[in-house]
Amino acid sequence: MNQAIEIKENIFWIGVNDRRTHLFENYWPLPKGVAYNSYLIVDEKVAVIDTVERSRMEDYIENLENILQGKKVDYLVINHMEPDHSGAIKALLCHYPDITIIGNAKTFPMLQNYYGIHTHLLEVKEGNKLSLGKRELQFYMAPMLHWPETMVTYVPEDKVLFSGDIFGAFGTLDGGIFDDQVDLEYLEEDISRYYSNIVGKYGVPAQTALKKLGALPVETICATHGPIWRSHIKDIIAKYDKWSKYETEPGVVIAFSSMYGHTERMADCIARYLTKKGVRKIRIHDTSKTHPSYIINDIFRYKGVILGSCAYNGGIFPTMETLLSELENMGVKNHVVGFFANKTWAGGAVPRFNQFAEKIKWEVVSPHAEATGALSPSDEENCRNIAYAMAAKLL
Ligand SMILES: [Fe+2]
Ligand SMILES: [Fe+2]
Repeated sequence: MNQAIEIKENIFWIGVNDRRTHLFENYWPLPKGVAYNSYLIVDEKVAVIDTVERSRMEDYIENLENILQGKKVDYLVINHMEPDHSGAIKALLCHYPDITIIGNAKTFPMLQNYYGIHTHLLEVKEGNKLSLGKRELQFYMAPMLHWPETMVTYVPEDKVLFSGDIFGAFGTLDGGIFDDQVDLEYLEEDISRYYSNIVGKYGVPAQTALKKLGALPVETICATHGPIWRSHIKDIIAKYDKWSKYETEPGVVIAFSSMYGHTERMADCIARYLTKKGVRKIRIHDTSKTHPSYIINDIFRYKGVILGSCAYNGGIFPTMETLLSELENMGVKNHVVGFFANKTWAGGAVPRFNQFAEKIKWEVVSPHAEATGALSPSDEENCRNIAYAMAAKLL
C-alpha cells in the first residue's frame, strides 16, 4: 500500500497488517490477525518510532521511502526490542546507514545480542528530551511493561504518546487506523485478550506506568498493535486500570478436561446449580478445544474459577496442566476457585489441583468433588456444594 496515512500533521502511521501468521509469538492464536504499528515523524529531523516484524520489512521500507521522497531518516526510537517491533531495524539501517538509534541502558545489550548492532547509539534516561526542530521527543521509562527495556515516547507539541505495546490489541487495522474508524465491538475480545495474555502478568508495573503517564496531557495514543486511540482514551485507560488491579465481575469460568464425558458432565452439573443460585455469567471451556488464551481472558474478567480434570496415567490431563502452569506463570490474582476430578482406578488430578491452589493463593470455596466414572448421587451432591459455595461468594 502506498498511501501515506497521517495521524497529525507530519506524523504518519507506517505500520503493516499481518493476516498470515496463525500464532503470535508462535503461541497465541490470531483469528483476526495483528497489526505491527510503526510511526514516522517528519520535522527538520526525521524520526521513526519502532519498526515492524521482519516478514513485512519490504513493504515497510517501500512505504517509508514513498513518504520520505529522498529525505533521510535521522533517528530510530526503540521503545521496545521484541522482534515484532525490532525485526526491520537491520533493513532500516541498510537503507539509512547514518541513523542514530535511541534507546535506554537496557535496550542496547538486546540490540547487540539480537542483531549485532552496537554503533550510532544514543542512550536516553527518564525525562530526557530530544529536539526534532518544531517538536520535541520526551522519553519515559516503563520497565516490565512488558519487557525490562520498555519505554514510551511523548511529543508535547502534538500531545501524542507512542506507547509501545501498552494499550495494544490483536486484530488487523482493516481500513481505519483510529479507534473511531474501526469496529471496536468486533475487536473487544482481541483488545482484552492481548492485555490478559501479553501484558497481564505485569499488573504492578502497569499501575506504576498509568500513574506516571496520567500526568501527561495526551490526546492521541499510538500503540504498536491495534487501533490508535484518540476518541476513547478514557475508556482504554479505565480498562487498563481495572485489568491491572485484577478487578473482576461476578461470574464463573468452568474449564474442564474430559476423555469420555464423565468430567464434562460434572462441569454441566455444577453450571446447572450455579444457575439455580442466580449466577448468569457462566463460561464453560473444554481445555482440549479452546486455546488457553481465551480461557485466561475469561478468567481475567470473572472472579469465580472452577477447574475439573479427568485422570491421565495417574495424574492430571495434559491440556489442563498447560492451563494451570500458565496461570501459575502469570500469577493471576484475586479469584476464588473450586475443583472437580474424575478417575477410573487410582489417583488423578487432585494432587496437582492442591499444588496449584497452594501456589496461586486463590481462596478455595469448597472441598473438591472427585467422582469415579459416572456421577453417583453423592458426587452430584459434592458438585452442588461447590456451585452453591461459589455462588455464595459471588452474589
Ligand atoms: Fe512486546
Ligand atoms: Fe508487540
